[in-house]
Amino acid sequence: ERKSTYKIAQIGADGIGPEVIEAGVQAVHAVAKKVGTFNVDFTELDWSSDRYKKTGSYVPADYIEILKKHDAIFFGAVGAPDVPDHISLWGLRLAICQPYMYANVRRTKVLPGTSSPLKNLQPGELDWCIIRENSEGEYAGHGGRSHRSLDHEIGTEVTIFTRTGIRRIARYAFQVAQSRPRKLLTYVTKSNAMRNGMVLWDEVINEVSKEFPDVTMDHMLVDAMTVRMTLHPKSLDTILATNLHADILSDLAAALAGSIGIAPTANIDPSRTMPSMFEPIHGSAFDITGMGIANPVGTFWSACEMLDWLGEHEASKILMKAVEQTCADGISTRDLGGAANTQEVTEAVIQRIKAL
Ligand code: NAI
Ligand code: MG
Repeated sequence: ERKSTYKIAQIGADGIGPEVIEAGVQAVHAVAKKVGTFNVDFTELDWSSDRYKKTGSYVPADYIEILKKHDAIFFGAVGAPDVPDHISLWGLRLAICQPYMYANVRRTKVLPGTSSPLKNLQPGELDWCIIRENSEGEYAGHGGRSHRSLDHEIGTEVTIFTRTGIRRIARYAFQVAQSRPRKLLTYVTKSNAMRNGMVLWDEVINEVSKEFPDVTMDHMLVDAMTVRMTLHPKSLDTILATNLHADILSDLAAALAGSIGIAPTANIDPSRTMPSMFEPIHGSAFDITGMGIANPVGTFWSACEMLDWLGEHEASKILMKAVEQTCADGISTRDLGGAANTQEVTEAVIQRIKAL
């Protein structure tokens, strides 16, 4: 339900994460002031690779209790050059998201003033929402290694699919498809080569589809899906895929939309047991950390998703409009071909929020 004050856990974490999150906090405050019916109270948490290097842990022992005191989590990126990526990812991002936030939602469109590497694609022609299963599948964390360092060393990474897990993500994806004008859901598997878990996906999704007779559904194998996304982007709307497949397809989607710096993610717990987490899809970008030139647009768009999830739809629309106007006016960072820095883009967005 809507509140007069929202408590947001702010976790910038590593690299450009704190830079873009700081920009996002400014934009959220500006839009809250504009709407005038709610406040946003950010609690800065220092959960990061620096904390890990000092204390041996990314998060305190009672981190779930701490997060539960908040209405949402606003997250930057995790990953440091001197920490292995599987340690940082599991230590922070997956520790927070995996147990509860089973739906990962990634919207993609070509914003005004940005251009797709696809020839002839006009703004508005690519408008996708990718739903990624976010709690099990290929990233379930099951497996092990034995016969260490011997020639016959074994490493297993066991994919776990459950009927419950597939059913709940399928229902969520159908609901999203139903809420969009085209009411079109394309689901992706590899059930020709993977004949157990992926065939279970086919079966469960076909069952769930009967609850949504107004949604048109089609099915793609993941390899053919890369071709369809590239050659026939207009034929797609809502897309459902497994944890691994959607991870890869959503990076492709971000690249086809013009830059990894503009794409948002929402990690949603549809049951609202835990606060949901909102973050740009990009990583900590060591190559540009500290230069003040990170593109904050993916973070602004993630803030729009957060405001929508909190029920503040008007604020979400105003912020998105201000971001689109800023892009259309050619005020953008280097990755989009512009010359502005993070703070200049942020100030341009705030000015447009005030003027709207
Ligand atoms: P990355 O997304 O950090 O960077 C890839 C390229 O895109 C770099 O050239 C970078 O400068 C550019 N880029 C990314 N975000 C940008 C932005 N906002 N504005 C302008 N340019 C931007 O991916 P990479 O280099 O593979 O990973 C770096 C670290 O980030 C690794 O430790 C990785 O594990 C971590 N990572 C974390 C994620 C997360 O926390 N959700 C997601 C992806 C990677
Ligand atoms: Mg990824």
